[in-house]
Amino acid sequence: MSLRTKIQALSRLGHSFRDAAVSPRSVPAPAESQVVLREVATTKLRKVEHVAELPSEVLTTTTEVAYDWDYSAKRAELRTLYEKSKDLTWNARTDLDWSTNVDPESEIVADSFNPLFGTDIWKKLDRKTELPKLRRHMTSYILSNFLHGEQGALMATSQIVASSPTTDAKLYAAAQVFDEARHVEAYDRYLSTKVELIYPPSPHLKQLLDTVLTDSRWDFKFLGMQILVEGVALGAFGLIHQTAQEPLIKRITHMIMQDEARHVAFGVMSLRGHYDDMKASELRDREEFIIESSRLLRDRFLAQEVWATVGLPQAECEEAARNSVMMQMFRKLLFSKIVPNVKRLGLLTPFVRRGFEELDVIEYESWEASA
Ligand SMILES: [Fe+2]
Ligand SMILES: [Fe+2]
Repeated sequence: MSLRTKIQALSRLGHSFRDAAVSPRSVPAPAESQVVLREVATTKLRKVEHVAELPSEVLTTTTEVAYDWDYSAKRAELRTLYEKSKDLTWNARTDLDWSTNVDPESEIVADSFNPLFGTDIWKKLDRKTELPKLRRHMTSYILSNFLHGEQGALMATSQIVASSPTTDAKLYAAAQVFDEARHVEAYDRYLSTKVELIYPPSPHLKQLLDTVLTDSRWDFKFLGMQILVEGVALGAFGLIHQTAQEPLIKRITHMIMQDEARHVAFGVMSLRGHYDDMKASELRDREEFIIESSRLLRDRFLAQEVWATVGLPQAECEEAARNSVMMQMFRKLLFSKIVPNVKRLGLLTPFVRRGFEELDVIEYESWEASA
C-alpha cells in the first residue's frame, strides 16, 4: 500500500470514528456521559474573571524519543510505585464534593499565608471591603500558580514518557501524566466554579517551567520538575492542607499530596547515582540550575502580582512582604523537601551548599528525605 493510500485509509477511519462520536443516534450515550456533559456545560457557563488574558503559547523543544524493546521489569521499586499509583487512582469529578458551598472572600487559605499578614498595611485594611477582596485574590493567586505548575508537570512528565530509556520509567511516568491531568482538572474546577478568578503564572514559575520543558537533557526534567517544583509544591500543599479552613480545598490538597509524594520519589529513584561520575563541567550546569531555580521558587511566593491588582501600594507591599517574618519562615519551610533530596542525590556540592547558605535554607540538610 502506498503512503498516500495509507493516509487516505487512516483519514477515512478517523472520519468514521468522528461520525460515531458526534451522532447521538448511532451510539446512545450512557447515563454517566450525560452527567459529565451536563457538568462540563454548567462549568462553561460560569463567568470566570481572568486577571490577564493570556494567548496560547507554543515553545520549540528537541526532546529525545527512546524505544525500549525489553519490556521486562528491571527496577522493582519503579514497578512497585507504578502499581501503587494504579491502586490509588482517584477521580476528581466523583471523589470530591463539588456541591460544597464556598465563599471566595472567606479565609479559604489561612491569613497567615498572606505576605502582608501582621504588617502595618494589613492592620489598616478595611475588614468589610478590602480584607475579603484581598483574601479572594490571594487564594486565587496561590491556587492559580498551583494550577499552572500542574500543567507544566503534565507536559514535562509526558516528555519523560518519551525520553526515558527504560520501560520501567515509561510506565511510571505515564501513571504520573494521568495524576497531573487530574490535578489540573481539580484546581481548574475549583478556581473556575468556586473562586471564579484566575491569575496568570508568576513570571518566576513560568521561567522555571520554560527551562524544564525546553532543556533537552532528561535529567533536567527530573531535577527541575520532580525534585524542585514538586518538592516545593509538596511543602506548600502540606502547609495549606494543615491550615485550610475550607473543606473542599482541604480535600483536594490532601488527594493531590498523596500523588505528589510518589512523584518526588520517582525523581529521587530515577536520578540516584546519575551524578556520581559526572564531569565537573557538566555537574556545574546542574549546580547552577539548582540554585537559580531555588531563587525563582523562593521569589514566586512574594505575590508581587496581587498588590496593584487589588489597589494596594505596590512598592510598600513588596517591601512589607520581603521583610515579613512569617513569609520568611514560610518560604524557608518550602525547602524542607528540596534540600534533603538534593543531598541524597549527591548534589550538595560545595557550590550548591554555598547557594543554599545564601538562601538561608541549609539547615534542612539533615531533615528526612522523600522516597
Ligand atoms: Fe501534580
Ligand atoms: Fe506531580
